[in-house]
Amino acid sequence: MTSVTSTSLADLVREPAPPEWAKTALASAVKFWFLCTFAGQLVFAAYIAALYGRSALRGDFNGWNAVMTHGHILGDSVGNVAIGVHLLLALVVMMSGALQLVPGVRHNAPAFHRWNGRLYLAGAVMGGLTGLYMVWFRGAVGDLVQHLGTSLNALLILLFAGMALRRALRRDFASHSRWALRLFLAVGGVWFFRIGLMFWLAIHGGPAGFNPDTFTGPFLSFLAYAQYLLPLAVLELYLRCRTSGGVMAHIAMAAVLTGVTLAMSLGIAVATVGMWLPRM
Ligand code: HEM
Repeated sequence: MTSVTSTSLADLVREPAPPEWAKTALASAVKFWFLCTFAGQLVFAAYIAALYGRSALRGDFNGWNAVMTHGHILGDSVGNVAIGVHLLLALVVMMSGALQLVPGVRHNAPAFHRWNGRLYLAGAVMGGLTGLYMVWFRGAVGDLVQHLGTSLNALLILLFAGMALRRALRRDFASHSRWALRLFLAVGGVWFFRIGLMFWLAIHGGPAGFNPDTFTGPFLSFLAYAQYLLPLAVLELYLRCRTSGGVMAHIAMAAVLTGVTLAMSLGIAVATVGMWLPRM
């Protein structure tokens, strides 16, 4: 009887490489996701610049209280500076993050990629740290479960930023790009929260699973974690599929990504029309 080595066993269970059309289907789904995300984050950035930037330039800091529960507070200089820094960096990361993922920019303008990457990393880290300060020392909307959820988001931002930088310095660019993708999704957590909430309101025709007056309830507790854990889970599936998935895995992943992007598009459209444009 012939002996079966571990290599030949692995060969038996390994899926055959997917055909080109399956790879193209997945690549197209990724492009569709990226374009919607890019556009949606630009609208969010425009809203931040228009609402917070314009009122700061006018010297009318009361404008910061139009949405935030603990925006500008007279006499709290440290807190006001922290919020100002948070908002400025929120604008920076929302504009610079997606550009880091465009292959054409990476290949044709490597110096821009490096400088924009430094700006993005610094913005993400400081945005996370000022966010933590605001949640635990300044006061924020929501309850303890939500505060723990957003704090874990901030810790993941710090961890992923450290890993992306470390791998880039070691010139391990394959690993760097995986950590940078994780960072992009963790930094996008607050944006996913907003479009996730708008998607939920749209499909339910109004608030469901939470109390809009106290901004607490099971759905918001779920969303405080799902805002980054769900995108990160989809990313891990995608990374596995890209390296070792067969034809079925590629088709399933393309279908999942397309479904997710359609849901996101609805959330982005409702957030734009109902939340961001009216305040610009
Ligand atoms: C790095 C990406 C982030 C961006 C782009 C961002 C963006 C923003 C924006 C635009 C606001 C103003 C509220 C609005 O107009 O919607 C805000 C408020 C706030 N952010 Fe962030 N943020 C980020 C990260 C974080 C993190 C990681 C935390 C928590 C650890 C956090 C905590 C807060 C808090 C507590 C407020 C005030 C909310 C309130 O009570 O009204 N942010 N953020």
